[in-house]
Amino acid sequence: MQSRFFTVVLCAAFLGGMSAPAGLQAEGDKDAGRAKAESCLGCHGIEGYRNAYPSYRVPKVGGQTETYLIAALKAYRSGDRAHPTMRAQGAGLSDEDIEDIAAYLAAADGAE
Ligand code: HEC
Repeated sequence: MQSRFFTVVLCAAFLGGMSAPAGLQAEGDKDAGRAKAESCLGCHGIEGYRNAYPSYRVPKVGGQTETYLIAALKAYRSGDRAHPTMRAQGAGLSDEDIEDIAAYLAAADGAE
């Protein structure tokens, strides 16, 4: 009986510990992100989301969820997402840069 009680307490402690970093991760700084995202908008802010040359589709990133944007940028940085253009973009970003940029883009609903 007693050991079962401890199992429950330990599980709760473990789950609590797991959720804390996830909560922290979503606290990017929007204002810092706006400055850091400026170069991104050269591609992501263009009308029709189509680059002039070479002609390829650029996805709309403004208004996507922060969690998704963080995951996407980290995947480009690590090479899990192979697109060469975005790999080059992600390569120079720190975790903090990614979180700031994601916070800014998630809150943006304009042309980004
Ligand atoms: C030279 C043009 C260019 C620049 C500059 C650029 N991107 Fe991209 N981005 C693209 C293209 C093209 C894709 C689609 C890649 C693919 O198919 O995986 C993309 C994809 C993305 C995605 C994934 C979107 C989705 O719906 O899955 C995110 C997030 C993103 N870019 C963010 C950024 C950020 C943040 C920056 C600035 C640090 C940036 N991009 C700079 C061209 C660019």
